[in-house]
Amino acid sequence: MTETLPGSYYCDPNVFRAEIERFYFQGWVCAGRAGFIPNAGDYFLREIAGESIIIVRDADSSVRAFYNVCRHRGTRMCVASEGNFAGRIQCPYHGWTYGLDGRLLGAPHMDVPGFCRDEYPLNEVQVEAWEGHLFVRLWTRDLSRVSLVNRLADLSAKFAPWRMAELQLHKRISYTVKANWKLVVLNYSECLHCPFLHPALNRLTDYLGADNEAAPGVYLGGSMGFRGDSETMSIDGKRRRGYLPGLNEDERRKVCYYYIYPNLMLSLHPDYMMVHTLWPEAVDRTTILCEWYFHSSELTKPGFAADDVIDFWDTTNKEDWRIVELSQLGIQSRSYRPGPYSRREELLHEFDRHISRDA
Ligand code: FES
Ligand SMILES: [Fe+2]
Repeated sequence: MTETLPGSYYCDPNVFRAEIERFYFQGWVCAGRAGFIPNAGDYFLREIAGESIIIVRDADSSVRAFYNVCRHRGTRMCVASEGNFAGRIQCPYHGWTYGLDGRLLGAPHMDVPGFCRDEYPLNEVQVEAWEGHLFVRLWTRDLSRVSLVNRLADLSAKFAPWRMAELQLHKRISYTVKANWKLVVLNYSECLHCPFLHPALNRLTDYLGADNEAAPGVYLGGSMGFRGDSETMSIDGKRRRGYLPGLNEDERRKVCYYYIYPNLMLSLHPDYMMVHTLWPEAVDRTTILCEWYFHSSELTKPGFAADDVIDFWDTTNKEDWRIVELSQLGIQSRSYRPGPYSRREELLHEFDRHISRDA
């Protein structure tokens, strides 16, 4: 029989710090979307593993990511969460100036013997785009450059028909949940709770209808077919937008729910994509960004609206966040002991196994 993890995984700040180091500092983290920065100089900031990271579109249209740390005296340079650098990144302290490729271009009063500008570029981190999602990896000591795109190759093939790179952001809601980040993942990875917590959702899909699969340490997930004449996840199961172009009959009749380690929960619907990214802040607190993406052919239609799916998922999200907060409270009890998993919770056990194995 398999069991849930000991309480320390959800309550001990030392375990939390070790997980942040291993999964968020050393691993690939989903930072956002290439579509957030369409033009040269466009950037956004992300706080990852306690570090402020600048993600910017270079003049040659590639995406780069840098530590937000000046090479002069270490000052955090940029504070606005998004914007445009107009060709260069300048430190507000003494005016050191960097190109969008991170090279140091100007350093006032540095006519010092031995100083060479070429030796002081911004510290760069790895960034890779996968189907429009941008992933960054802060750890640069490992020179083997484990490619994320290679690891996700089978998902690339599976999800190609959704053409995720073409989808555009319509709406974002930020939630702060008083629970460990892993409880959010565990909750996302099973639907046994759906009849109890999500009456509206449970009318649209069969909670026992998921087909589960896992690639250890890379992703876990599955798809669920619709009940009756439901066509998408919305307040009433009705679909008010065209199908995403590229989907075949089978793909139009299901929702795919995939978690990609450590912080992306990807929900692909017949007519839209929903993305959750997890941003752990403390052992018992997590910020969750939930975003809805649509195809431009729908977004540009006069009067485009998507309240039917946003309201549906906002309600469902809040039902989920409330129960994971209650899970956190219960697990913090002195009386908590690991409990038994059912056969239908195999993905949760797979996740726990990966989390708890020696790094
Ligand atoms: S610390 Fe940035 S220019 Fe001096
Ligand atoms: Fe749920």
